[in-house]
Amino acid sequence: MLKVTGLHAGYGKLRVLSGVDLEVPTGGLTVVVGPNGAGKTTLLCSIMGIASVFAGDVIFEGNKVTGASPYEVARRGISYVPQMKNVFADLSVLDNLQIAGYMLPRDEVKAKAAQMTEIFPVLKQFIHRKAGTLSGGERRMLAIAMGLMKKPKLMLLDELSTDLAPIVARRVMAEIARLRDEMGITILLVEQMAKRALEIGDTAYLLVSGEVRFEGDARALLRDPELARLYLGIKEA
Ligand SMILES: Nc1ncnc2c1ncn2[C@@H]1O[C@H](COP(=O)(O)OP(=O)(O)OP(=O)(O)O)[C@@H](O)[C@H]1O
Ligand SMILES: [Mg+2]
Repeated sequence: MLKVTGLHAGYGKLRVLSGVDLEVPTGGLTVVVGPNGAGKTTLLCSIMGIASVFAGDVIFEGNKVTGASPYEVARRGISYVPQMKNVFADLSVLDNLQIAGYMLPRDEVKAKAAQMTEIFPVLKQFIHRKAGTLSGGERRMLAIAMGLMKKPKLMLLDELSTDLAPIVARRVMAEIARLRDEMGITILLVEQMAKRALEIGDTAYLLVSGEVRFEGDARALLRDPELARLYLGIKEA
């Protein structure tokens, strides 16, 4: 569904990614792990047209979207849930969902928002509360639901477990696996909490200093004593 080839990207003159190749197959959950500052968020930003691409290509469903505007990339069916500031804290849960559905026809927004509260019952319970008053895990569910409001073909999820207690992070990860299994959504997930992400992922990429150090089966990376210990802080699978 998505193919990134020979990608060199960064910000201004700063090069963060050096020749990244990556493929996201339809219906799969592809995971990108790697230490802080490796360029994981930059990779997602390059796909979305937020970071600068110096060389290489981003191909979505066979069409080149390299250098396209974030709006154009979103319009084609890629939904991006950022690492931080991914909800409007001062607005209600319902307002957040409706704003996220800005690309849908008006009458569809309501139905889609209702569907989200069925997928994530906790949102129904707090539908009129300000998003800023939700717990970390609830807020992450809202951010995922906002991504889904756009009816994406591909979802880019950046570090949904940041700052969450391990048990809550696991719940969020389980929800992500459910999106793949029950809704058939294609997902590219970037994660620091590498162990759990690799457990639910299909294919994995290890990104270190802007380069791909490993590409293959997610569980194989989890079991690789050298890479997992060196870069991911995983002692045993
Ligand atoms: N907007 C920006 N302008 C300039 N440099 C940036 C910008 N965003 C990130 N960087 C730099 O790019 C490098 C890669 O950052 P990036 O956010 O992609 O890493 P990451 O792998 O997502 O890290 P983390 O696990 O901490 O989220 C870092 O050295 C960072 O300082
Ligand atoms: Mg990041």
